[in-house]
Amino acid sequence: EKGGYDTYMLKEIYEQPTALTNTLIGRLHDETGEVNLDIGLDPASFKRISIIACGTAYYAGLVGEYLIEGLARIPVEVDVASEYRYRHPIVSENTLAIVVSQSGETIDTLEALREAKKGGAKTLGVINAKGSSMTRELDDTLYIHAGPEIGVASTKAYTSMVSAFLMLALWLARARGTLTEERAQELLHAARELPRLVEEALSPERVERIRQVAEKYAGARDYLFLGRGVNAPTAFEGALKLKEISYIHAEAYAAGEMKHGPIALIDENLPVVVVATESPLLEKTISNVQEVRARSGRVIALLSDGDTENARHADDVLYVPRAHEMVSPVVNVVALQLLSYFTATALGRDVDKPRNLAKSVTVE
Ligand code: F6R
Repeated sequence: EKGGYDTYMLKEIYEQPTALTNTLIGRLHDETGEVNLDIGLDPASFKRISIIACGTAYYAGLVGEYLIEGLARIPVEVDVASEYRYRHPIVSENTLAIVVSQSGETIDTLEALREAKKGGAKTLGVINAKGSSMTRELDDTLYIHAGPEIGVASTKAYTSMVSAFLMLALWLARARGTLTEERAQELLHAARELPRLVEEALSPERVERIRQVAEKYAGARDYLFLGRGVNAPTAFEGALKLKEISYIHAEAYAAGEMKHGPIALIDENLPVVVVATESPLLEKTISNVQEVRARSGRVIALLSDGDTENARHADDVLYVPRAHEMVSPVVNVVALQLLSYFTATALGRDVDKPRNLAKSVTVE
C-alpha cells in the first residue's frame, strides 16, 4: 500500500506532482485567462479576509496572505485557530473567513469557523477530506484534491493548499481588476508549471544531494531556518517538519528578524537553512547569510539553479528549480521536506508515526 516506498511520508512527498495536477486541473485556463473555482460566493464583495488554521495549514495560510494581499489587494489577517476562537475577533458580513485544513476535523479550526459564522462572515474552506465536519458547516469548499494523506507529517496537503491559495488570489484579483492581463497570464502560466517544477525538484540527483546534506548535519542539536517574504513561511514549515519527525529542536524566523535576537544562538554547531531563491529581496537575504557566516554558523542555502554567484556564501548548497517568486514556496518546500525526512531516517525515527502526534487533532 506504500507503493514501493519505505514510508507513507516518502510516498506522499513523491505524489506531489500528481496532487498538484489534481489541485489545479480544470480550474485555471491560461488561454482565456479564466479562473474557474466553482465557488458560490461573490469575490468582489469582500472587504477583509481572515485565514484560520493550525500547524502546517496555518503556514499555508501565511503564504496565502502574501499572495492575496499582493495580487488582489484585500487586507488579510491570518490566525492560528486556537487563538482566533477565543480572541473575540471583529467580523462582519464583508468578511470572508477562509479555514484551511487537511482533515477537515481539527477541533480548534472547526470552532473558529463557528465563531466566524456567528459574527456574520461568509465562510470558505480549503480542505482535503471530502465530506469532513468542516465542509458540512462551510458556505463553500475549495477542495484541494491532494488524495488521502496518511503520514502524520503533512507534505502533499501543504503544497496543494498553497496552490489553492494562488488560485484564490487570482480569482479575487480577477474580480477586483487588480492585475493587468499580462501579469495575470504570467501567474496562470507559473501555476500551471508547478507539477513539472516539483517533479524536477524530486529528480534523483537532487534527492541524493539532500540526503547527503541531511546526514552531514544529523548530529546537530538545534537548527535555524530563515526565509523572507513569500518564503518566510517556507522556513517556518521547514522547521516544523524537522521538529516533528527528527525531534531536533528547530526555530524559524523571517530573515530580517535575525538580528533582533536569534543571532545570539549562532555558533559553529548551528546549521542555518536559508531559503535564498530568486527574489527582488535576494540581496537582503544574502546579507543575512553573511551575518550568519561571520559568526561561524553553518549555512545550508537553498539557491535557484544556476546561482553559482551566491554559492560561495554557503557551506552547503541545495539547488532548486527556478520558479516565479509567487509560486516558489511550493517548489522550495520540497527540499525542506526531504531534508527533514532524511535527517529523521538517519536518526532511526519512525517518520510515519512520530511520538506524541496524531494525524488529526479532534480534542482541544
Ligand atoms: C504538521 C501537521 C499538523 C497539521 C495540523 C492541522 O505536519 O500535520 O501541524 O497541519 O494539525 O491539521 P489539519 O490540516 O488536518 O487541520
